This record gives sequence, structure tokens and C-alpha cells, in this order.
Amino acid sequence: MSEQAQTARAHWSGRWAFFLVTVGSAVGLGNIWKFPYMTGSNGGSAFVLVYLCCILGIGVPLLMAESMLGRRGQGSPVGSMRVLADEAGASRLWQVIGYIGIVGAFIILSFYSVVAGWVLDYTWQAAEGFKALPKEAFAEAFGALLASPGRLIFWHTVFMAMSALVVLGGVTGGIERANKIMMPALFGILVFLVGYGAVAADLPAAWRFLFHFDPSAINRGVLFAAMGHAFFTLSLGMGAIITYGSYLERDVSIPRTGLAIAGADTLVALLAGLAIFSIVFAQGLEPAAGPGLILQTLPLAFSQMPGGHAVGLLFFVLVVFAAWTSAISLIEPGVSLLSERFGMARRPAVLALCAGVWLLGIAVALSFNDWSGFTLFGLGLFDLLDTLTTKIMMPLAGLLIALFVGWAMKRAHVYDEIRMGSRVFVLWFNVVRYVSPVAIVIIFLNIIGVIG
Ligand code: TRP
Repeated sequence: MSEQAQTARAHWSGRWAFFLVTVGSAVGLGNIWKFPYMTGSNGGSAFVLVYLCCILGIGVPLLMAESMLGRRGQGSPVGSMRVLADEAGASRLWQVIGYIGIVGAFIILSFYSVVAGWVLDYTWQAAEGFKALPKEAFAEAFGALLASPGRLIFWHTVFMAMSALVVLGGVTGGIERANKIMMPALFGILVFLVGYGAVAADLPAAWRFLFHFDPSAINRGVLFAAMGHAFFTLSLGMGAIITYGSYLERDVSIPRTGLAIAGADTLVALLAGLAIFSIVFAQGLEPAAGPGLILQTLPLAFSQMPGGHAVGLLFFVLVVFAAWTSAISLIEPGVSLLSERFGMARRPAVLALCAGVWLLGIAVALSFNDWSGFTLFGLGLFDLLDTLTTKIMMPLAGLLIALFVGWAMKRAHVYDEIRMGSRVFVLWFNVVRYVSPVAIVIIFLNIIGVIG
């Protein structure tokens, strides 16, 4: 990278901005769609407890490592890794971390956008108000959405356009501005919904479900599900945090912001869980409904509860904001690579990347209906891409990042960039050197079926 490109690199307007955009990336469908249903299907509090340990033990250390790589590398995930590999006197093959991330983010966005499209469709329905119908009707309605290529592709297109629009606005004028509006709004809605749960639904039941400690429900399945989800929810391994970190000023403390980001992400997941399960239990519905929890179970509840029309609409707007601010963090890494590598301006880079994601997303949308006959290893395209990214590429990238920071980089450089008290540093550094790699390898072996 030229000297000029270095000095011209955009920067967040301050530490608060970095905190907000990274929380915006982290808080997404993972928190509000996936976390509640995984908790519901994995024994409630047992899953929550293991999940909290994974966030603290593996998630936070890696989040700090990724932010550090970006800030020191001052480039796209690929460019940063090249600069840092050179600095460390290590092989440039480490750039593969950047490539895995960018390709992974591209693939994740293709199916993330289709799911966000479901949410947009439901937001539309919520605006009109869910009609009080028997339970089966809500399952059928979701089935009908999946069976309709036109509806899926339409909403996927709308969502990609919304996301591209923000990234077109640039680092501060687009990404930062969008997050500064949506993230406080999201938090406000969430607090309101938990308040609603306390007043009009069954908050105590939700509280018991999430926090009543029951170690007997912990098993290996719960453990691995929680570890995988910790990666996904903190946006780790896919270059997003490296990219956002590359716009970070030197004077911001990475450990402190890293902890705050993980704390905020966890808080949102738990509040979403409280809000959702308060409503689910108040209506006597099933917490273990799986992926359909917010799309089948909740609309049923909204159709029956007092004020359900307004609350339902607010809820889906919340999910849209969450998904939107995450999607832009899946676009930016690729855009930063295209402009760094090919000197492309932001506009053509965003348009080219989003057009590619949009096309792959159409195939994903069709995999639910017209192309459902196409499977590989017994998986449809949606599950195939999900498995490839979240179960293979994410842990792999996480492992390589831990190895690079823990073993390839010069310790003095790491120390200089992380700048925290030497005791805490030693603790963190040893976690990155030993604990993270071992934990990731164990999850990985479990996933590919060698153990477990
Ligand atoms: N963390 C987001 C969520 O929980 C998803 C996400 C955004 C993501 N950017 C990412 C996941 C980068 C992995 C990598 O919904």
C-alpha cells in the first residue's frame, strides 16, 4: 500500500463510534433470531451459562486480537495480514486469513440476506397486523413464504439494496451514521419490549427459563452449539472486525472497547431472550420451536395479546435494524479489498460485490422451493453454505488468527498495540496462544465428526 493510501485511510469519529459500529455488526439475526431459538432448543439456562463462558473465554480474546490486527495492519483483511506478516518476518501465506474472511463474508451475506428478507416480509405483515388464526395457520404461512420464489427474491433484493445504500455512503457518512441512528433505536425498542414483558406478559417465567441454573442439562451438544454461536454472534473470523479495526484510532483502548462490545452484544441477546420468552410463556406456547420461534410462534402471540399490533411491528423493526447493521459489516471487508487491490472507487466496488452476493442469494432463495431437489452431502444450498461458513471457515480463520497473534507476531509488537497492564496482557496472550487454538481444534473435530 502506498504512503498516500495510508494517510488517506478513513477513521471513525471516535471511540464511541467504533463501539457502536462494532456492536452493530455483532448484534444481528444471531442475537434475536438464533440465540433465543438455540436457547429454547438447548435447555434454556444450561445453554446460556455455557454461552457466557464461551464469550468470555474465547470470544473476547479473539475479538481483541482481530481489532488489533486491523489497527496495526491499516488495510483490508488481506492487506493488513500482508503488512503484519512482513513485519513479523513470517510467510505471506498468512494472507489466507484475509481471503477466508472475505469469501466467507460474501457467502454468509448471501443467505443472511435471504433470512433478513423473511424478516422484512414479516415486518410488512406486522404493519398490517397478524390476524388471530389457529396455530397451524402460522406454520402454514411461513411454509407459504418459503415456497414462494417471488416473495423471497423480492425481499432479498430489497434488503441487499438497503445494505448497499449504507455502504455506498462511506465509512463515516454511511456506516457510522446508520449505526448512530439504528443502534440506540434498537436498544430503546428492546428495553420497551422487556418492560412490556414485565407488565403484560410473563417476565418471571422467562427469567427462570434463562437463568435458573440447571447443570444437569449441560451436555456435549450444548457445549459445541454454544461455542459455535459465540463466534457467529461476535462477527469473528470473517474479516469484519479486522476491517472495522483498521479504521480505529491509535488512542482507543482495545481491551476496554472489546469487553464493552462483547458485553453489549450479550446484553442484547439476553434482553431479546427475556422479551421473546415472556411473550411465549404468557401465551402458553412452546419455547423449543426451533428456527420458526420468531416467525411462527411470536406472530401467533402478537395476534392474541393486548397491544399486539404495535408491539409486533416494533419487534420486527428491531430485527430489521439488527440485521441491517450486521449486513453492512459483511460488505465492507470485500469493498476494502477491491479498492486496495484494484484501486476501485467505493461505488463500483460496492455495486460489483453486492451484485455478486445478490446472485448467490437468488440461488439460496430458490433452494427453498424450485431448486430444493439440488443437494450436496444431503444438504440443500442454504444449509450447505451455512455449514461451510459457520462450521468450517469461521473456526478455521479463528484458529489461524490465534496462531498468528500468539506465535508468529513479535510479542513486543502485540504488546505495543494492545497496551494493557502487563499482568492482564500475559493472561490474554496465553489464552490466545494456548486456550483458543486448543478449544477451536476440539470444536472443529467435533463438527467434522471425529469426536462426539
Ligand atoms: N454477528 C452477526 C449476528 O449475530 C452476524 C455477522 C455480521 C457476522 N458480521 C459478521 C458473522 C461477520 C460472522 C462474521 O447476526
